[in-house]
Formats: sequence, C-alpha cells, structure tokens
Amino acid sequence: MTENLIIFNVRVVTPLGFSARRGREMGELYILDEATVEVTRGLITYVGPNRGEQRDGYYQRYWHYNARGKCLLPGFVDSHTHFVFAGERAEEFSWRLKGESYMSIMERGGGIASTVKATRACNFIRLRAKAEDFLKQMSAQGITTVEGKSGYGLDRETELLQLRVMHSLNNDEHKRVDVVSTFLGAHAVPQEYAGRTDEYVDFIIREVLPSVTQNELAEFCDVFCEQGVFSIEQSRRLLLAARSQGLALKLHADEIVPLGGAGLAAELSAVSADHLLHASDADIRAMAEKGVVATLLPLTAFALKEPYARGREMIDAGCAVALATDLNPGSCFSGSIPLTFALACIYMNMSIEEAITALTLNGAAALNRADSIGSIEVGKKGDFAVLNTDNYYFLPYYVGTNCVNATIKEGVIYTI
Ligand code: NIG
Ligand code: FE
Repeated sequence: MTENLIIFNVRVVTPLGFSARRGREMGELYILDEATVEVTRGLITYVGPNRGEQRDGYYQRYWHYNARGKCLLPGFVDSHTHFVFAGERAEEFSWRLKGESYMSIMERGGGIASTVKATRACNFIRLRAKAEDFLKQMSAQGITTVEGKSGYGLDRETELLQLRVMHSLNNDEHKRVDVVSTFLGAHAVPQEYAGRTDEYVDFIIREVLPSVTQNELAEFCDVFCEQGVFSIEQSRRLLLAARSQGLALKLHADEIVPLGGAGLAAELSAVSADHLLHASDADIRAMAEKGVVATLLPLTAFALKEPYARGREMIDAGCAVALATDLNPGSCFSGSIPLTFALACIYMNMSIEEAITALTLNGAAALNRADSIGSIEVGKKGDFAVLNTDNYYFLPYYVGTNCVNATIKEGVIYTI
C-alpha cells in the first residue's frame, strides 16, 4: 500500500547518501527545521523548507500531517534478526543466569537445537502468526525494513518453510515492514549429522541451496562461522557455493571466539560481517578496505554478558558500522531499538549521530538497499520514524524507552 503524503513543520534528521557512510562520515547528519517532506505514491518527491502547500488543487490529492515539535528520521532498518521461530528458551536463560555458557548449552543439545525441534513441529500458519506479531512490535518502534534468517529448520523442508513465511509476510499488501530474507542453513549442525559437519555442508550445497535460489526465497546466505560450529574452511566453501548461485553474503563472525570470520568476510567481499565481538585489528582494517559493513549487535553482548564489539575503533578505522538487534529466542530475546541506541552510545562509544546512521543508511547498506531506503532524500521510499520530541538525543538518553510517535511506511501513517 502506498500513499500521497505531505509532512510539514517537521525537524528532518537524516544521514545523506545512496551508499554506506564510512568512518567520520557516519557522524554527519543533515538537519533541517521547519521542513516539508512530500511523498508521492510511496516515494519521496520533495525535502526542503516549508513552502505554503495549500496553494493549489494539486495538493488536495495529498494527506497533510502537521508534525510540529517532532523529529522525522528515516525508518529504522534492523538488518540482523532471527524473528521466525517456534518455542522459547526461558529455561535456558535461567541456566545462563546461574553461570552456564551459551556454547556449553549448545554442546549438550540445547540452544539452537531446541528451537529447531520446536520449529520442525510447527506449521506455516502458526509460524507466520507468531512472526507477524514480532513485525507489529518492530513497526511500533519505527522499524520499516527488517532482515530475517532461516536456520531453525536445518532440514530442507523446514528451512524452506521459514523462508516461505518471510516471503508471505513481505508480499502482504498491508505490511508495515519490508522483510528481507537470508538463508542460514549453516546455523548449527543438526543431530542427524552430529560429527559429520562436512557432510552437512555438502547436503546444504547440493539439496537445499538450489531450492532456495530457484524459488527466489532468499537474497543472502549467512553462516555461523564459529569454533565448534562451522570452521573458516567450511564457511568459505558454503559461501562460495551460495555466491555462485546468486546470493549475496553475510557471516556471523567472531561472536564467541576470535576465529577470523571478519577476515573471511573481507576476503569474500561479503556485504556484511556481524557480531564481531572478537574481531582482530587486522581484520577490522581489512573490512574497512573492502567496504564490508560491520554489523554490531549490542543487545546480544548485553544478554550474554560479553564485552561489547569495538564500535568506536571500527569507525575510527574507517569501517561502515551498522547496528541491529539480533532478535532471537536464545542469545538475545530482545528486539529493542531504544536499548540498542543506548548500549551503542554508552558502551560502544558511538555518538548519537553515528548510531542513527548505523540504524538507518548503514543498515540499508547491509541489505544492499542504500539506493532505495535509509535516508530522507528524493527518490527513496517514504519510510519514516516520527519521534515524539524535536530532540533526537532522546533516542539513547531515554534509556530503553520508545519515543517513536508514529511510523510511516511508503506514505501511510501508523500512529503508535
Ligand atoms: O546471532 N549465534 C548464532 N545465532 C544467533 C543465536 C541463535 C539462537 O541462539 O537461537 C546469534 O547470536
Ligand atoms: Fe544472529
């Protein structure tokens, strides 16, 4: 659904550009007070000073929105989530509170494997309904585009089921959030393949990837490149096969131990490398050189009680940093945009302006969409987050609290 809309008297706050902002550029926002933004059939057609829009009949075909006292930002782009799954893992969370580690729970058959069991037992309707509830919560926080991953099937049928759920949500005429799909068949080694990781990689390459690409069910391929899960060599083999079948590349890299996943992302010119808690200095430089978006997920570090990724250093090294939530039932059962802002600014030493760029234009770049979303510029989609204040500092300052007053998707206003 698209609309014609004129937003006036607003304070526009946006990064500018049609590609990722790197290094120092991340802190440069365009701010315009007493501004008007015009959206025509869902696309931005004017951004500039107020201009007395009641002048002629032309404007009768537009909705008018007086946004005095509010900030207009690009809709937030959550470029890394696992929002399609069945079951929860609250028990496991309680074990972690008592000191058990995320990986030791995974090694003894819990963790991702327990969500796989629940997801395999679920049907399309229930899986879709639950995922749709998450989309509503995302929209209420100003998100207009989200990336979602498979990876809770680890068999052909259930991997495709998760991707079909996302495809269906993205094709909904009344959707409030665009959904970008990533195939993460290499999220864990399923029980049937225990001790036979190479054979499982063969299985994904031969039996699952072709169905994903032939049915156009994903744009990206991701892998959990981690000690005890998929090695650098196994990840490389899978990603090269995915690329040869037309998918763009992402990696879960250096999340738990420093394995060199960020370096592999640079070697393969992946679109993004995500997590990066333990990325080395050399790999950070390599990512900056190759233009790999460094996607940081501070909610996961928070929930796992791990040290945060070195966001400040990555920006200073010239990287394009994106922020995302990593919403999933295990390592991080939170999709909170306000808390993401607060953690990034307080613990990763990002400026408020850099965090805004990271959750808008650089999130879009992490999804190969910086040409169509992520900033408020003529030609881009009319996707916005409207804040209930004219002071965008509230985003991290009002810790963990939503200050989004309305979300606008392709010119359609949804008040919160
Ligand atoms: O990004 N580390 C791998 N994948 C997710 C966690 C998935 C889960 O625990 O269910 C992550 O942290
Ligand atoms: Fe993840």
